[in-house]
Amino acid sequence: MKLNLNYQNVKDSYLFSTIAKKVSAYSETHPDKKVIRLGIGDVTLPLCPAVIDALHAATEEMGKQESFHGYGPEQGYDFLRDAIRTYYAGHGVTLDADEIFVSDGAKSDVGNILDLFATDNTVLVPDPVYPVYVDTNIMAGRKILYMNANAENGFLPMPDSTVDAEIIYLCSPNNPTGAVYDRQQLAAWVAYAEEKGAVILFDAAYEAFITDPALPRSIFEIKGAEDCAIEFCSFSKTAGFTGTRCGYTVVPKKLTAGGMSLNKMWLRRQTTKFNGVPYIVQRGAAAVFTPEGQRQITENIGYYRENARAIAACLDELGIWYTGGKNSPYLWLRCPNGMASWDFFDFLLERAHVVGTPGAGFGENGEGFFRLTAFGDRDATREAIERIKRVLS
Ligand code: MLT
Repeated sequence: MKLNLNYQNVKDSYLFSTIAKKVSAYSETHPDKKVIRLGIGDVTLPLCPAVIDALHAATEEMGKQESFHGYGPEQGYDFLRDAIRTYYAGHGVTLDADEIFVSDGAKSDVGNILDLFATDNTVLVPDPVYPVYVDTNIMAGRKILYMNANAENGFLPMPDSTVDAEIIYLCSPNNPTGAVYDRQQLAAWVAYAEEKGAVILFDAAYEAFITDPALPRSIFEIKGAEDCAIEFCSFSKTAGFTGTRCGYTVVPKKLTAGGMSLNKMWLRRQTTKFNGVPYIVQRGAAAVFTPEGQRQITENIGYYRENARAIAACLDELGIWYTGGKNSPYLWLRCPNGMASWDFFDFLLERAHVVGTPGAGFGENGEGFFRLTAFGDRDATREAIERIKRVLS
């Protein structure tokens, strides 16, 4: 038996597992301290009533012979794919239902999609970056090139035509930096991908946090993207599905290479390796697109936006440089007093009992930066802000 030796090249532990371990160790030795978690981007508000009603109704259906559902279509039920299609049409993107594949979340699909690509493709990722893009490619042994995202370019690196790559990862609104590409910038990326014969893997998991109508929510708002991009999205951050699990991936039928259709390949892959998302969960997800569902999730997103605004006001008051927090649930700040990311992590944990995510965990360019999320409970977020102000003023 031979093992995949590429696993020797990934870090021993996934970033958020490392943080969770550190925080549990701290809590065990300091049981009297109330730790506030603004680290992993996990939501705190419950599922909205429209989703809960749909989950209950679907559960009832599953208990009756005449409405029971066994195996479903691996690519998702039509009722959910149609709802997603209509949602995209709402921001000017025309899709066919069979270009939409329902999944258990963007993270899984961002990794799984790599089944379609040879291991000798070169991958281009921004640094700092969501670690899943990097780790999944290291596991497959692909060569990875990093592009510098930094304060100078607003953490929005642009294509460099002297660099050759075949698989490009973009995330906008960005995790971890909260920076958002505008239409012109995304058009430049589409042009680059077309020139290089590359594919853009576009992570739109945070699109619902965009308030500025001029900013694109989908790469498919950009002309030509349907020839060179795949988009990943999720109900996790939009509708509180981090524990319920549902997302979707859009693979346009126009996306082909060497005479092969990526849409067909992905369907073949999913029908072989995936049994689909539970019927009950898909009914819950479809309820997100009903008028009540939209109203309720907009209210929840507004709650997180208000948290982001309050954290941003705190950073402004302390004179700390940051990006994000406006069209994004993440705030990406420069560690005060020139501290290194993990030192600031320890400082905040020990002095304020507040957990954030060290920028260095997202790549070399993240060193000296730190990420806070707006997904916390309102009172806990306010309390964290007060504590941060106390230890930094
Ligand atoms: C994060 O904190 O970066 C996200 O919650 C991770 C994820 O969505 O997998």
